[in-house]
Amino acid sequence: MIAAEVVYRARAYDTPDDPFTTGAGFRYGDDLGLVVSDDGVIVDRGPYADVAAIRPGAPVLDLRDGILLPGLVDTHVHFPQVRVIGALGMPLLEWLDRCALPEEQHLASPDYAATIAYEFVASLIAAGTTTSLVFGSHFAPAVDLLFAEAERYGLRVTSGLVVSDRMLPEPLLTTPERAYAEALDLAQHWHGRGRLRYAVTPRFSLSASDPVLAACASVLAEVDGACFTSHVNENQAEVATVAGQFPDRAHYVDTYDHHGLLGPVSVLAHDVHPTDAELAVLAARATAVAYCPTSNSALGSGLFPLRRHLEAGVRVALGSDVGAGTGFSIFKEGLQAYFLQHLLGAEGMPLTAAHLLHLSTSAGAAALGLADTVGDLSVGKQFDAVLVRPPAGTALDIGLRHADSPEGALGKVFALAGDADVAEVWVGGDQIASGGFVRPVSRR
Ligand code: GUN
Ligand code: ZN
Repeated sequence: MIAAEVVYRARAYDTPDDPFTTGAGFRYGDDLGLVVSDDGVIVDRGPYADVAAIRPGAPVLDLRDGILLPGLVDTHVHFPQVRVIGALGMPLLEWLDRCALPEEQHLASPDYAATIAYEFVASLIAAGTTTSLVFGSHFAPAVDLLFAEAERYGLRVTSGLVVSDRMLPEPLLTTPERAYAEALDLAQHWHGRGRLRYAVTPRFSLSASDPVLAACASVLAEVDGACFTSHVNENQAEVATVAGQFPDRAHYVDTYDHHGLLGPVSVLAHDVHPTDAELAVLAARATAVAYCPTSNSALGSGLFPLRRHLEAGVRVALGSDVGAGTGFSIFKEGLQAYFLQHLLGAEGMPLTAAHLLHLSTSAGAAALGLADTVGDLSVGKQFDAVLVRPPAGTALDIGLRHADSPEGALGKVFALAGDADVAEVWVGGDQIASGGFVRPVSRR
């Protein structure tokens, strides 16, 4: 026995095979043993009786009073918008002017930004989100504080300075030179440090001129392995404005592609109104799209054409898009995706519980270029996991106790689970939340 190994005994689900492309369902173990090494890697898995028999004396954590899932992945969530969740009834551009952008200006104060960084990180953990691609702030000190807080709690976060040079309130604007210098400085400090990575982040082409997009491309070229993220085709008024701003580009996607910003670790949020030509470019670049169901509904942006994306070969994962989205729960995004795709009828994509789990975990990991590290509970992956254990007497508790199949139980998780049901959270083998309390890790 290697003393540092821990055996997690659990009812566990994951989706190592993509249900969209392979037709596979989820993988389920009713009494599974997952052996996790001291450095947080899953080193063995199998029926509990088998893995335990060859490790007599190894500590065992019995988690069979809940359901173990891979840590949830949020591919699009805004750090400075924790406090504006729930402002309903406005389309995108009005919501930005009246809700998001006034709040985002408050992050010019490092004291304010530090409080928001804590609230944001704690909210991600409470929702069971262990990996995220985070839209940062327009203020470099605020982004610095976000990275520091994510590191303190051990979260896997990819984020960066948001840059814009037009169409936003003046305090949120920068210049191409400053955008380049501040981004590089942040990336040099944080990119590749522990679980943190840098994402080059123009807000959207509407607020980023060609010189700013070119500065973004320069940062991307300088920082090996950096990600790229922005918004695209979210709202028809936005799309029309961008078309007028970039008369020489073929389409909205081309405003980014022209600068070489799209690749396999690029994620564009929304894409509710793509043309076939744009989908072809996204597929050719292996760029992923963050599908943000609650945001698309809350802002009335439209019904996401998931089937068209998948048929064009574009990779899709889920994003909460807090604060236009109505909360941090990726379970809720999955459920809303299910509803909306169902309502689209023949144009929609029928989704099973396995599809929802895939979109919430392994698809997100793949979109962020982390498929070798996280996303499922295979040997060789980091132990990033959440235990769903509802409070006694709640509908989910009753439902799970009476589920007639593993498929039925997973469906109940997506129908009913919220933050209160996320009982334990691990990232890389570090337990960062238990019983609703988050706690800093003291490694590194
Ligand atoms: N497009 C540009 N900025 C934003 C934002 O903050 N939220 C959403 N949903 N779309 C955007
Ligand atoms: Zn967004």
